[in-house]
Amino acid sequence: MKTGLFALTALSAALLSTFTVVELAHAQADPVAQVDALEGLFGKHPTARRSGAKGLCASGTFTGTAEGAALSSAAMLAGASVPVTARFSLGGGNAKASDKSRSVRGMALAMTHPGGQQWQMSMISAPVFFVSKPEQFAPFLQVRTPEPGTGKPNADRLKAFNDANPETLRQAAYLAKAPIPASYGTVQYWSTNAFEVTNAGGQSRFVRWQFVPEAGTLGLTEEQMKSLPDDFLGDELRQRVARAPVAFRFQFQLAQSGDPINDPTAAWPEDRQVVNAGRLVIDRVEAGPGGACDKIMFNPLALPTGIKPSADPVLLARPAPYAVSLGRRLGEVKP
Ligand code: HEM
Repeated sequence: MKTGLFALTALSAALLSTFTVVELAHAQADPVAQVDALEGLFGKHPTARRSGAKGLCASGTFTGTAEGAALSSAAMLAGASVPVTARFSLGGGNAKASDKSRSVRGMALAMTHPGGQQWQMSMISAPVFFVSKPEQFAPFLQVRTPEPGTGKPNADRLKAFNDANPETLRQAAYLAKAPIPASYGTVQYWSTNAFEVTNAGGQSRFVRWQFVPEAGTLGLTEEQMKSLPDDFLGDELRQRVARAPVAFRFQFQLAQSGDPINDPTAAWPEDRQVVNAGRLVIDRVEAGPGGACDKIMFNPLALPTGIKPSADPVLLARPAPYAVSLGRRLGEVKP
């Protein structure tokens, strides 16, 4: 028995020594608990994504620039246009949420280069994410979930969590001041997570990326807030794209030494150099909900040669809960 215990302790010590801090943080965040927490707060919406539940599928092209290619050898930045599958969504797991909600808007992209390289990403309309560590994700949602007895979140638990994790309030503070987007095509999207780009000469640096709408950013007026229905974003994008393609500038924001690489709740200073690395053009939107995006997920770690994930534990933790959500929604029947 003693030998068994010793062997076990020795084994865990050996295992521990091979784990980096990042991997430990990663291991503590249970993807099933994260998806359960999304369902707990937003309810169950069969066949819908557990986050970014309400949305629509679109397509277009992405074309890299020479400045982008100078920073990364990614095949998609080499200059030729690559077809893109895109999904625009409303933040959160409520498939029936109002398009006027003060939440993030999401943009997810998947590109496959003719040579076989893949690049998938999903961004939000805020420069920061709401957790700095994946193990905060489930508790952040749980303390905001109404309790059965009162129909309200437990105020003491909420305060205790917020006090202990003040950085998790930064995204809400940003959204409180930002206008409610008038269109999926008139809002900026940020990666929030950092990535390491490497060019053909082998030089590497850390970047975050942004998609800036060429039409400019446009929020709803008070008048529009009152007169628009809860579901307007889908038709608005369809009408906008029918008039003319919707384009975004793809930009790399370059980190300087000392900038927080592994914390997506911490924005980099606004004066950091930004490089125009590509252009996204959306020229087709699916007629209704669903379509090509329904059966896929956008995995932020599906990256081409020339772009690597940073050690940001939130970034590294993303594929697992996405796969849990994909598994659940593909196994369900639309109500
Ligand atoms: C620990 C951190 C995170 C967890 C647990 C998480 C969880 C999820 C889950 C379960 C989905 C549904 C996936 C699907 O069914 O295909 C999802 C979608 C999404 N997430 Fe996250 N997420 C995290 C971090 C982030 C970050 C850092 C961003 C962006 C800055 C982000 C942006 C999005 C967007 C835009 C979607 C919708 C994508 C689509 O349209 O398919 N998430 N997330």
